[in-house]
Amino acid sequence: MLGRVRFGVLTGGGDCPGLNAVIRAIVRKGVDVHACEIVGFRDGWRGPLEGDYTELTIESTRGILPRGGTILGTSRTNPFKREGGPRTIRETMADLGVDGLIAIGGEDTLGAANRLHAEHGLDVLGVPKTIDNDIGATDVTFGFDTAIHVATEAIDRLHTTAESHHRVMVVEVMGRHAGWIALYSGVAGGGDVILIPEAPFDIDEVCNLVQRRHSRGRSFSIVVAAEGALPKQGTMEIAAGDADEFGHVRLGGIGHRLEQEIESRTGFETRAVVLGHIQRGGTPTAYDRVLATRFGVAAIDAAQNGEWGMMPALRGTRIDLVPLAEAVAELRTVTPEEFAFAEAFLG
Ligand code: F6P
Repeated sequence: MLGRVRFGVLTGGGDCPGLNAVIRAIVRKGVDVHACEIVGFRDGWRGPLEGDYTELTIESTRGILPRGGTILGTSRTNPFKREGGPRTIRETMADLGVDGLIAIGGEDTLGAANRLHAEHGLDVLGVPKTIDNDIGATDVTFGFDTAIHVATEAIDRLHTTAESHHRVMVVEVMGRHAGWIALYSGVAGGGDVILIPEAPFDIDEVCNLVQRRHSRGRSFSIVVAAEGALPKQGTMEIAAGDADEFGHVRLGGIGHRLEQEIESRTGFETRAVVLGHIQRGGTPTAYDRVLATRFGVAAIDAAQNGEWGMMPALRGTRIDLVPLAEAVAELRTVTPEEFAFAEAFLG
């Protein structure tokens, strides 16, 4: 008698609120409706590369819907940086009787999933996640809503202390290549300056905005900067960090550089706050739980139908399946048109 159909699932890259909701949905619908078995690989691509896995059941995934992080663990392991990586993954899948793999991740994890499918013929499909909201082919990724709630609450709190002390507060939020978190939390929190990676800034203009606001009688300002925000070439020095296996440099320094420059150029006392991983941790919002659940259900249905090389995406209000290749072709960054509505509120 043939064994049951078995699918593997893994979570790779930076964690994000809602990952557990996807895992739960895959297991619940997979086991209950499709009568298949689900294998959870640990720590992203490290799991199938090293044969590190656990059987997932409805019992073992109970109670995880509101939990942040990922019960499977994650890593930034790049299978294409390991000798014979794709072959090892194929062998692990064969050894464990895994018929296909669902990779939940951002640009790097999905990029690897796409290559494993397109170049090595592995049965892999993807689910988009990232608080940065920058995956192509989907309108939104889960985790983003939670991140902007956290960042907005932080900006609200910083407003009261900035006002009391007559200070400029620089709030550095995440967003490596895309300024969605800075834009949305900056607008929602009433930021006076919003700096995003897509539009290199001129430090003189930043200081002018702060000075204009102060000349209009306000004694404090809030500057919201994405971690990937960059000064126009040659206008301000910034330090570069180490790179990971996908070649991404560690960010997290622009806030403090802005603090120094704004204080020395305007004379206004300035403080920087780096929100960092607080934005990635904790319980997902209701919106993220629902979106993650919809993606999980669509992913296990797609696996059951053999739709390899695809990815569920939110298009308007619908969940559609799109080719992974389309999703990883280009990051979804903030266009000038999408930023324009914020301009009336700056300075
Ligand atoms: O990709 C999501 C993200 O949160 C980026 O905004 C940030 O640059 C990066 O992950 C940080 O990664 P790590 O957790 O490895 O420091």
